[in-house]
Amino acid sequence: MTKNVASKNEEAGKKWVKEDPDKEDVYWPSEELKKKAWISDPKIYKKAKEDPKKFWAEKAKEALDWFEEGDEIYEEDPPYFNWFIGSKTNLAYNCLDRHLEDRRNQAAIIWEPEPTDESNRILTYQELYREVNKFANALKDLGVEKGDAVTFWMPMIPETAIAALACQRIGAWHSIVFTAFSPDAVKDRMDDAGSELLITADGFYRGGKTATLKEKIDPILEELGTDNCVVVNRAGTEPEMKEGRDHYFDELIEDKESYCEPEKLDAEDTGFLLYTSGTTGKPKGIKHSVGAYAAQAALTTKWVFDLHENDVYFSTADMGWITGHSYSLYGPLLNGGTTLWYEGSPYYPNPDRWWDIIEKYGANIFYTAPTAIRALRQKGSDWIEDHDLSSLRLLGSVGEPIDPDTWKWFFNKVGEGRCPIVDTYWQTETGGILLTSLPGIGPFVPGVAGPALPGITYDVLDATGEPVDVNESGKVVQKPPFGIGLLRGVYKAHEKYKAEYWSEYGDKIYFSGDGGRKTEHEVGGNRLIEITGRIDDVLEVSGHRLGSAEIEDAISDLDEIVEVAVVPKPHDVKGEVPAVFALLKSDVEVSEEIEEKIVNIVREKVGPVATPGAIYFVPDVPRTESGKVIRRFLKGLVKDGELGDMTTASNPECLKELAEITEYNGPEEFEF
Ligand code: PRX
Repeated sequence: MTKNVASKNEEAGKKWVKEDPDKEDVYWPSEELKKKAWISDPKIYKKAKEDPKKFWAEKAKEALDWFEEGDEIYEEDPPYFNWFIGSKTNLAYNCLDRHLEDRRNQAAIIWEPEPTDESNRILTYQELYREVNKFANALKDLGVEKGDAVTFWMPMIPETAIAALACQRIGAWHSIVFTAFSPDAVKDRMDDAGSELLITADGFYRGGKTATLKEKIDPILEELGTDNCVVVNRAGTEPEMKEGRDHYFDELIEDKESYCEPEKLDAEDTGFLLYTSGTTGKPKGIKHSVGAYAAQAALTTKWVFDLHENDVYFSTADMGWITGHSYSLYGPLLNGGTTLWYEGSPYYPNPDRWWDIIEKYGANIFYTAPTAIRALRQKGSDWIEDHDLSSLRLLGSVGEPIDPDTWKWFFNKVGEGRCPIVDTYWQTETGGILLTSLPGIGPFVPGVAGPALPGITYDVLDATGEPVDVNESGKVVQKPPFGIGLLRGVYKAHEKYKAEYWSEYGDKIYFSGDGGRKTEHEVGGNRLIEITGRIDDVLEVSGHRLGSAEIEDAISDLDEIVEVAVVPKPHDVKGEVPAVFALLKSDVEVSEEIEEKIVNIVREKVGPVATPGAIYFVPDVPRTESGKVIRRFLKGLVKDGELGDMTTASNPECLKELAEITEYNGPEEFEF
C-alpha cells in the first residue's frame, strides 16, 4: 500500500505531500527539486545492488582524478578489505589543482570570524592552492614525511584547512583533536600516533571570549619532548615561543616555494587518523584510506547535499569531528564548491548568529546537529523571524537521532517548509554517510534516517544474525563488499579493531554498535531505517528490554521539553528503572504538574513498564564535542558509581551541578 500511495504522490508531487493524514508525516520531493537534483531516478539503488563493486569502480572514476589505475577493484582478507588496489591519487590534488582551470577565482572557503568587528576572509581556489603548496613545503622542511602523523589542536580558521590539505599533499596523516578536548586528551593522541609535530593556534574566539590553546599545551610538548610546534597567530595573545621548537605559521611559509609536487599515493595508503571513543578504554585511532575515502566524500556530498555550481554550503561541523573532515572540508572542495566556515558560538553576539550568516552569504545548504537545533529552538523562534532564509534549499542533520518534534521545527522554522531534511546516519568509522534519503528521490520521514545509499550493503540483524522483518528492530551492520570509506583498522590495535567491530557476528560482518528499525517505508527496493540509538543504551526493567531512545522520544513530544536523556537506574525489585534527565524550555517552571506529564506520556507512549523511577530537571547534560550526550556519566551518577574520564566533555561546567541534583554519593570527587 505504501508503495502505491508513494508513487501517486511522486506523480502529484508539486509540493510536499503527506502520505497519510492519520499517520506519521512522509514527504516527497517537489518536481522542482527532482529536476534540479543530481540523482532523481530510484533505479540507481537497483543498479548498485546488482554489482556494487562495478558500481563503485565507475563512480570513483567519475568522482576523482587518478594518476594511475590498478586492475583489481576489491579484495578481502577478513576483517580487512581493500578498494581500488594499485590505483594512485592525491586528495589535495583533487580538492585544488584540478579546479584551477575552471574556477580559480571562485571562493573555496568563506570564513566568518566570531568578532563582529573583524573582516571575514575569502580564499579563492587559487589562493588556497598557493597557501597549501607553501605549507606543504614548510612541513617537508620540518622533516615531515609520507606516513608521519601530525597532530592538530586547531580552531575553525582557514589555516586548519590549509594545514590539513598540506598533509594530504605530501601523504602525512593529520590527526585532528577537537579544541574542546583537554591538553591531556591531546597528549594521549599524540603519544599513540607518535606525532613529532603539533599544529595549533595561540587562541581563538568563542562566545565573546578568547580561548587560549598554545599556552595550555606547552607543558604537554615539554613532557612529550615534541620536536616542532607550528602556531597560528589568531588571537594576538603572544604566547611564549620556544626557540627552535615553536614556529609561527606565517613566518614559516613566508619564503617557501609556491609549488609542491603532490605525492602519488596508493588508494590504500592511510590518509589520516581520527581518534574516537569506543565502548571501553582509551580513544582509538581510526584509520582511513586515501582513495576510497576521497571518492566517498566526493560522491556523497554531491548526492546527499546535491551540491551545485554557485551554491554556498554551510556546515557547522568542527574539523575535530569526522563531519568536519568529510563535509566541512573535503567533500565540498572535491566537488569544486564553496564551503562556509564560522569560527565561533551560534549564540554570539545573539542566538541568531547562524541565521545571520545564512542571510549574509545566501547559504543554500545548511548542515548541523540535532542538539544544536534543539538548543536554538529553546532560545525561541523569534530569533529566526527577522532573517531572510529564503536562499536555503536543503537542510541536513547528523550525529544522533533527530526526534520528530525537533525535525518539524527545523523543517518549518528554518526551512520554512520548503527544504528537504537529509537526516544523515554515519560514524567516524564509516568516513561518510551511510543512510539517508536522497533529495531528488525521498521520502523524508521525521525521525527516520533513511535508506542505505546506493552501493552500501547495510542490514538490520536479530541476535541470531538473521535480517529482521519490517517494523522489527535489531543491530545495524554492513556486509561485504564493505562501504568504500569504512575504516581500514585501528592504529596499532588489531585486537581492538576485531573486538569492537568484527566480533558480534564474526569477521565478515561489520557491527556498527547501533540499533535500528526497518520501517514500512521503502524506496528503490531499500527499506528506510530508523536509528534507535547505541545498542548499549538499553534498559532492563522487570525483564523487559526498553530503549532509552524510545522513552526519550515519548518525553520530547511534550512542548515543555527541550532535551531529554534517559539512563538505567538500579532498582531493588525491578532491576532497573528509567532515570530521566530533562531540560525544560526557559519559560517553563519545575512543577509537580510537569513531572506528572512526563510520567503520563511515557506510560501512554511506551507503557506502564517504562514509568520513570526518577526525574531530574537539569540545566544541561554533558556532551561530547559532537554534541552527543555522555550517558556513561549520567549512568554513573544515578547508580553512585564510577563516572569515567570526563576530559572529553565539551561543557564540563554542568557536571558538578548534576552531581548535586542527583545527590551523587559515589566514589568520584568533584574537582571540576
Ligand atoms: O549512534 C550513531 C550516531 O552517532 C554515532 C557515530 O558518532 P560519531 O562517530 O561521533 O560520528 C558522528 C558523525 C557521523 C553513530 O553510531 N548517529 C550519527 N548520525 C546519526 C546517528 N544516530 C541517528 N541518526 C543519525 N543521523
